[in-house]
Amino acid sequence: MQEKWSPQSWRAKQIRQVPVYQDKAALESALSQIKAYPPLVFAGEARRLKDRLALVSEGKAFLLQGGDCAESFAEFSANNIRDTFRVLLQMAVVLTYGSGVPVVKVGRIAGQFAKPRSSDTEIIDGVELPSYRGDIINGSEFTEEARIPDPQRMVTAYTQASATLNLLRAFAQGGYADLHEVHRWNLDFVKSSQQSERYRALADRLSETLEFMAACGLTSETTPQIRETEFFTSHEALLLNFEEALTRVDSTTDEWYDVSAHLLWIGDRTRDLDEAHIEFMRGIKNPLGLKCGPSLDPNNLLQLIERLNPDNEPGRITLICRMGAEQVADKLPPLMRTVKAAGQKVVWSSDPMHGNTVKSSTGFKTRPFDLIRQEVQTFFEVAKAEGAHPGGLHLEMTGKDVTECTGGAQAITDEKLADRYHTHCDPRLNASQALELAFMVAEALKTEREGKRDAA
Ligand code: PEP
Ligand code: CO
Repeated sequence: MQEKWSPQSWRAKQIRQVPVYQDKAALESALSQIKAYPPLVFAGEARRLKDRLALVSEGKAFLLQGGDCAESFAEFSANNIRDTFRVLLQMAVVLTYGSGVPVVKVGRIAGQFAKPRSSDTEIIDGVELPSYRGDIINGSEFTEEARIPDPQRMVTAYTQASATLNLLRAFAQGGYADLHEVHRWNLDFVKSSQQSERYRALADRLSETLEFMAACGLTSETTPQIRETEFFTSHEALLLNFEEALTRVDSTTDEWYDVSAHLLWIGDRTRDLDEAHIEFMRGIKNPLGLKCGPSLDPNNLLQLIERLNPDNEPGRITLICRMGAEQVADKLPPLMRTVKAAGQKVVWSSDPMHGNTVKSSTGFKTRPFDLIRQEVQTFFEVAKAEGAHPGGLHLEMTGKDVTECTGGAQAITDEKLADRYHTHCDPRLNASQALELAFMVAEALKTEREGKRDAA
C-alpha cells in the first residue's frame, strides 16, 4: 500500500535536479505569495485535455506538443508567443488533414522555465560555477551572483505565465486561429519552400476542401470550430516548490490538481520510482507526461505507469519517447510490447529532439534535422510493427527563423549556426523545419490511415 499522498508528501523523499535555496525566509515568502495567487488553468480544462488524450490513446486523435526548450524572462514578448502559437497551428492543420483525426494542441509554454542539467556545475576557462537551471531558478549569466537560486524568480515566472496564457486564450478564441488564415500561412510556406512540390498536393487538396465546406455553408461566421481552436499548456514539473504552491483542491470533484498547467511531465532524469517527483505527480489528477529515454527498462516503466495511473484511466499517461535515432529501433519495441501485454492504456508520443543532440564542428550544441526525421520515421515503423498507435509528436521549436538545428530544406550548415543561435537551452527547430516535419508526419499518418482503410 502506498502511504497517504499530500501536496507536501514529496518532501520526505530523495530529490534530484532542484536548487538549494539559501535564504529560507525569502523562499517561504515567495511561496506564500504564489499560494495566494489565482490558478493559471482550471481543473475542468485539465480534465478536458485528459478526455482528448484518451481519444489519442485509442488512435482517434493525434497529439502535437511543442514550444521552447526553456522560456526565458529576456525573450518574453507578444511576438514570440504569437509566432510559436502560429507555427503550432500551421502544423496542426497539416497533421489534421494527413491523419483525418483531430489534433490536440499542447504548448511547451506559459511555465516551461525549469531545466534539469547533466552536471551541477559548469566550468568555463577554469572557473567553476553552479549550472544555470532555468530562469525560474537562477540567471544564465556566468557570474557567481547570477547563479545563486533566487526564490523571487518563481513569482516572476508565475506573472509571465499568466500574461502568456492570457494572450494564448485571446489568440485561440479571438479570431486569430481561423482555419482559413492558418491555411493561407501554409500556402505561403509551400510557395517559398525548396521542397514545395511535395507539399503542394496536400495544400491544394485542403484548399478544395475549405471551398467545398464554404459552399455547404460551413464558414468562420457560421461555425465556431473553424473560427476558434482549443489550446492547452504544459511544462516539466521539475521545481516542486513551485508546483506544490499551485496545487489546489478542485471544488467540483474534491480532487487535487496542479493548476500551473493543463499537462505536467516528468523528465528523463527525475523518474525514479521512489523519489520525490513521482511521489508528487501520482497525487495530482492532471494528465501526465513521462519521458522515456534509452536507460528506461520495460519493467521499470510498467511500475511507473502502475504508480501514476493505478486505475488505468485512459488519457492520464502520455509516454514521450526520446531514444535517439540510433537507439529507437532497439529500445522502443520492448517498451511497447510490455505496456501492451499489461493492457495499459497510454499515448505514445515521439520526442525526436532530446536523443539527437550533438556538438557541431563549430562548437554549438545542435541537432541534425536528418536524425530528427529518422527518429520520427522509426517511431512510426516500430509502432506499426508492435500494433501500437503512433499518437503524438513532442518538439522543441520556435516560430522564429533561428539557426539552431542543422539541415532541413534551408540546408543549415555547422558554419551557419552562429547566424541566429538564440536558444536559452537546447537547439530548437525553426518555423520552416517544424513545418517540414509536420508535412512529413502528415504523409506518414495518411499512409497509415489508407493502410487501415484498405485492410478494413
Ligand atoms: C526537455 O524536454 O527539455 C528535457 C530536458 O527532456 P528530457 O527530460 O527528456 O531530457
Ligand atoms: Co530540452
